[in-house]
Amino acid sequence: MRVLLTGGAGYIGSHTALTLLEAGHDVVVLDDFSNSRRESLRRVEQLTGRGVQVIVADLADRAAADAALQDADFDAVVHLAGLKAVGESVAQPARYYRTNLVSTLNLLDIMRDKGVDRLVFSSSATVYGDPQTPRIAEDHPVGLGLTNPYGWSKAMNEQIIRDVQRAWPQLQTVLLRYFNPVGAHPSGRIGEDPAGIPNNLMPFVAQVAVGRREKLAVFGDGYATPDGTGVRDYIHVMDLAEGHVAALERLSPGVEVYNLGSGAGASVLDVVRAFSAASGRDIPYELIAPREGDVATSVADPAKANRELGWRTTRSLDDACRDAWAWQSQNPRGFNTQT
Ligand code: UD1
Repeated sequence: MRVLLTGGAGYIGSHTALTLLEAGHDVVVLDDFSNSRRESLRRVEQLTGRGVQVIVADLADRAAADAALQDADFDAVVHLAGLKAVGESVAQPARYYRTNLVSTLNLLDIMRDKGVDRLVFSSSATVYGDPQTPRIAEDHPVGLGLTNPYGWSKAMNEQIIRDVQRAWPQLQTVLLRYFNPVGAHPSGRIGEDPAGIPNNLMPFVAQVAVGRREKLAVFGDGYATPDGTGVRDYIHVMDLAEGHVAALERLSPGVEVYNLGSGAGASVLDVVRAFSAASGRDIPYELIAPREGDVATSVADPAKANRELGWRTTRSLDDACRDAWAWQSQNPRGFNTQT
C-alpha cells in the first residue's frame, strides 16, 4: 500500500512511518510541522534506508489541503494530525474543535473526491470518560463524563466517521483507541519531543532523569489503586505503530473499533521506579494534589485487537523506559540538536 500519514512527523507518526516502511509499504506524510520536526522523518529515512514523500500543509485549511493533495498518490490514510494538549484544549476550545474536526471533514471530502476508501483513525481511550471498570472493552459507552474539548473532539470525530461511512458504504475504517503511548524506537534516534513543559508522565520523568527538570510532581496519592497513585495502561510506541499496520492490512467496509493497549496497569510510582532502574538515575518526586479531570484507573481489554487483528503488545514497561532513556540521553534537547 501507499499510505498517507497525516501528522506523520509527530511522535506516533514517525514510529508508524518507520514500521510501515519496514513492512514494505510506501509512505507519504502530510504535516504542517506546527508541533513536529522534519528531522524526525530524516531519521526515519536513515533508519530504514527508504524515502518518505513529505507534503507541508495544514489539513484544516481546505484550500491548502486540496492544493497539496491534488496530485498526491495514495490508497489508504492513517489520520493522526491534530492538537492533543488537554489543558490547552480547555483554554482554547474553539481552536481545538476547529482544528481537530475540520481536518477530519476536509480529509474525508478529499478521500471521496480521490476515490480513496481506506482510513485508520487515531482515537483515544479518553473517549471512555471515567469508566470505573478494571479493564475497558470497546463496547463500553463513549462520550459520558468527558472533561475537556480534546477528549470531546476525539469522540466527535468517531461519530463523524461513523456517519460518513453510513452514507458511503464502501468506506473501510478502523478507529484505534490508544491507551498511554510511551517509549521510543530502540535505536534512540526518534522519540517523543514535546514542546515546552511536558504534560504527560513519561516525557516529564525522562527530563527529570536527564537533569532538565528538578523533580516530578505526582498528581494525587489518594486514588483507589494499590499505591494510591493513578494507574494507566502504558503501551510501547513500537507496539502501537505495529497496531496501525495490522489495522491497515485488515480493513474491510464498515467501522471497526479496537483498543490498543497491553491489558496491564502501572501506577505513577511504578513508572518512576522502572525509569529509575532503566536510566540508573534518581527520579526525585513530590506528592501534590490530583490533576483536574484525571481518572484513577484506565486499563485496556485488548482481547478484540488480539483476536481480530492478530496483534498484541510484545514490549514491557521496562523496555519502554530503556528505549525512552536511549532517546532522551542521546537527544537531551529532542530534535533541536542545535541548542
Ligand atoms: C492524558 C490525557 C489523555 C490523552 C493522553 C495522551 C488527561 C486527563 N488525559 O492521559 O486525554 O489522550 O494524555 O496525550 O489529561 N502524572 C503525574 N505527574 C505528571 C504527569 C502525569 O503524576 O507530571 C500522572 C497522571 O495523574 C496520571 C499518569 O501520570 O495518573 C499519566 O498521566 P499522562 O501521561 O498525562 O496521561 P493521561 O492523563 O492518562
